Amino acid sequence: MTSERNFRIGVLGSGKGSNFVAVADACHAGTVPGQVVVVLSDVAEAGILARAAERQIPGRFIPPGTFRTKLGEEAERAYIEALKNARVDLVVLAGFMRVLKEGLLEAFAGRIINIHPSLLPAFPGLEAWKQALAHGVKVTGCTVHFVDAGVDSGPIIGQQAVPVLDDDTPATLHQRIQVAEHELYPRCVAALARGAVRVEGRRVRV
Ligand code: GRF
Repeated sequence: MTSERNFRIGVLGSGKGSNFVAVADACHAGTVPGQVVVVLSDVAEAGILARAAERQIPGRFIPPGTFRTKLGEEAERAYIEALKNARVDLVVLAGFMRVLKEGLLEAFAGRIINIHPSLLPAFPGLEAWKQALAHGVKVTGCTVHFVDAGVDSGPIIGQQAVPVLDDDTPATLHQRIQVAEHELYPRCVAALARGAVRVEGRRVRV
């Protein structure tokens, strides 16, 4: 990677962008030694693009193509080009609702991370907080992990636990998990920016 002051972060998101805000504001405050240099979205009206514009961070909608859960070939090329043009050191997925394929994974090998709203490997996939409630677990949380070709399956960088309360609804549990996400994600990005993360197979030391 690069010297920490120049550590350049690209963010991909499809939704409201609260995790992007947490990372970008931590960069601004200096707790993450880096900067978000570009935000890309597959949803034209996504809140994440508005949050980027408010912060004068370049944001761009790139049409995803015709597939529902992945990027089309042309779209994938456009995402890679935009991230390369921005010279990003790290790609941060923040609610990006598409599975990444080889093209992006190879272009940024070992440099793409994601946040997932459960303690992986429990409850991969969609609406993990609903899965946790349905299963009746007493503790869930969030996980930051490297992205590989599977779904929520790459090496784990960090996790934060969140209690499940007896009167939780999907909405209250999701909200409590998001509070934890906004602490965990900047902490993990900061460790990567400082070059403090070592990957040994599936084991990641921070
Ligand atoms: C987060 O809950 C994250 O765990 C999941 O998508 C959600 C994105 O939320 N991958 P936001 O757009 O960052 O608010």
